[in-house]
Amino acid sequence: MISIVYSILIIFISNLQIDAQHTLCAGMNATSRYVIDYCNQQDGYLIFRCCRGPDNETFIAVDLMDSNLTKIPDFTEHQNFDLVVIDLRSNPELEPSYDHDFLASKDLDVLVLPDHFDCPGGQHVWKWINKTDDPIGNLCGHQKDFCSNSTDICTEPNSYCDTNGPTHFLCLCKTGYDGYKCLRKGKFPSGLFYGLSIGVTIVTSAVLYCTQRRHVRN
Ligand SMILES: *[C@@H]1O[C@H](CO)[C@@H](O)[C@H](O)[C@H]1NC(C)=O
Ligand SMILES: *[C@@H]1O[C@H](CO)[C@@H](O)[C@H](O)[C@H]1NC(C)=O
Ligand SMILES: *[C@@H]1O[C@H](CO)[C@@H](O)[C@H](O)[C@H]1NC(C)=O
Ligand SMILES: *[C@@H]1O[C@H](CO)[C@@H](O)[C@H](O)[C@H]1NC(C)=O
Ligand SMILES: *[C@@H]1O[C@H](CO)[C@@H](O)[C@H](O)[C@H]1NC(C)=O
Repeated sequence: MISIVYSILIIFISNLQIDAQHTLCAGMNATSRYVIDYCNQQDGYLIFRCCRGPDNETFIAVDLMDSNLTKIPDFTEHQNFDLVVIDLRSNPELEPSYDHDFLASKDLDVLVLPDHFDCPGGQHVWKWINKTDDPIGNLCGHQKDFCSNSTDICTEPNSYCDTNGPTHFLCLCKTGYDGYKCLRKGKFPSGLFYGLSIGVTIVTSAVLYCTQRRHVRN
């Protein structure tokens, strides 16, 4: 009985995933020249609004222009999405949500946003920020390795910083350590103990700074 319920649940979940994938790509054909050019360069092929890479499995680019979006879709919900190019122009109602946008989009290299929507993290995160015309928008180009210049982020001795999409990073445990603050020596090669976005970190650092100062004075 339990296994039947379980199977139905699995079928339900996998249908949801397939569904989500279809709705993201379906409806229109890609018109974004950033998506089309990149897809051709990579020998990928277009399936409506998405470009599938030459491995025939991974989606590497998506054109979401004119989709009436109000928030950035959660790309982590979609299987086989490892996006390098995303075009989101002509979505006048699109609003940023700084905590979640583009979470885990590590390979994102060309992000095209509506004119009112700034490149997340600005110059700290992107090598180029250019304007586009036809349609008008902001082009955020080439994600920087945020961790390489931020040695003070993951301060626990056995941890290291790993970028996790624009304005996001993770503190991971070095090989041989795991658990909270990577204090435990374990058999698991690496563990995650926290992940934050840059905006949150600045606030956290400020709070820590104040509390530490108070300790010093006492
Ligand atoms: C999308 O492109 C295909 C093939 O080029 C074409 O057959 C189809 O009509 C197009 N669909 C839309 C909605 O434009
Ligand atoms: C991907 O699909 C295309 C057309 O369906 C085929 O020609 C090609 O050999 C496939 N590539 C791989 C790596 O399977
Ligand atoms: C966006 O909304 C407009 C007006 O409500 C509608 O005509 C259009 O088909 C919608 N586009 C999409 C892609 O849903
Ligand atoms: C953005 O502009 C810079 C120069 O200002 C240029 O080197 C770069 O190629 C442009 N990036 C894109 C993706 O067009
Ligand atoms: C790191 O800092 C150097 C020197 O300030 C700078 O030239 C470089 O672009 C920075 N790299 C990143 C990824 O921010």
